[in-house]
Amino acid sequence: MNNKFILHNTIISVGDNSFSDLKEFLASSNPTKIFILVDQNTKKYCLPRILSLVSSLKSACVLELKGCAEHSGNIEVLKSMNMVNDICIKLLNYNIDRDSLIINLGGGVICDLGGFVASIIKRGVKFINIPTTLMAQVDAAIGGKVAVNLKNHKNQVGLFVDPVLIIVCPFFNRSISNFNFVCAFSEVLKYGLIYDLKFWKQIVYDHDLVFKNQIIDQASDLTELISKCIQIKIEIVNSDYYDIGHRRKLNFGHSIAHAFESYVLEHVDLDGSGNAVHHGLALSLGLVCETYISYRKFNFPKMILNDIALKIEQIFPPIDYDLIKFKKLVIGYLKSDKKNLNGQYQFSLIKEIGQPIVNCSVSESEIIDSIDYYINKMWK
Ligand code: GLY
Repeated sequence: MNNKFILHNTIISVGDNSFSDLKEFLASSNPTKIFILVDQNTKKYCLPRILSLVSSLKSACVLELKGCAEHSGNIEVLKSMNMVNDICIKLLNYNIDRDSLIINLGGGVICDLGGFVASIIKRGVKFINIPTTLMAQVDAAIGGKVAVNLKNHKNQVGLFVDPVLIIVCPFFNRSISNFNFVCAFSEVLKYGLIYDLKFWKQIVYDHDLVFKNQIIDQASDLTELISKCIQIKIEIVNSDYYDIGHRRKLNFGHSIAHAFESYVLEHVDLDGSGNAVHHGLALSLGLVCETYISYRKFNFPKMILNDIALKIEQIFPPIDYDLIKFKKLVIGYLKSDKKNLNGQYQFSLIKEIGQPIVNCSVSESEIIDSIDYYINKMWK
């Protein structure tokens, strides 16, 4: 099965046969040079499949990001201006020109880095995303946002720019770790919570998902599930590409998640190895906390809040960082959130499942209490 979507200036092809669209694009566009950006794992597990299916890529120049094995860990720390600099120098050494094409083959970090580089080198060259992790397939690679981190703060330098094509091949999820795969489900759950009660119920109750040790067989056909998430994202992004209003619905759970990721990078990753907390795991915390804040602000039903917390507890591994310390520091991290307005914390919340509301001013005590709620529920 293959599904096709259009978002802004991008064709998105979803399904294990989506490579026929890549072949077609390459034949019609005829770039002067093709660069494929990979990490250690996508070079090993994904690149051979692509080269065997798309023979015109055999002569492409493959650039491997050293120290980057996104499929097995979190390498958010590599999304830096230093790395942008290194990649640009490599591309210049290989004589990239304005009619070249960059293909980003990897998870969110590769797509973000590669998209950022593509949009600035030679004032911009065309690029294609081939997201290989569930997280990137349902979110990071879709929607025209590229960015890198600055110090410990996520996505502070970036722009809106469209890839010409996105190839989403669910098959690649077989190559990611079970942990990475499970964590990606927080983004899937987010779509249910912000957009669609039916979809939420389907993911949590009806679907043949087992909320115990393993969510869903990585080998099963994920085309429909991924397509549904992409369809929701497209609808929201199309209504507000530049993220000034409706698109912020997608940030539900993310204010606290990003604060937590920054906290871990600064206070836990003391050896500087870059082993940050997985974004999906941080988002599982953010979803519970921000549903709690929704309950405080908008009377989101308490029973459903508790039910959501229970589901999240069943799916995700426990967060074994010092949450008491995080509670003391969270406000400091929230101060650099891009959504803040006149010093006020602006969260995206939900009035009910499927009823998101953006730009909600939230008080410091509501934020702190939400972390207490999480600690009491999850650390029983
Ligand atoms: N990941 C949030 C957005 O694309 O707006």
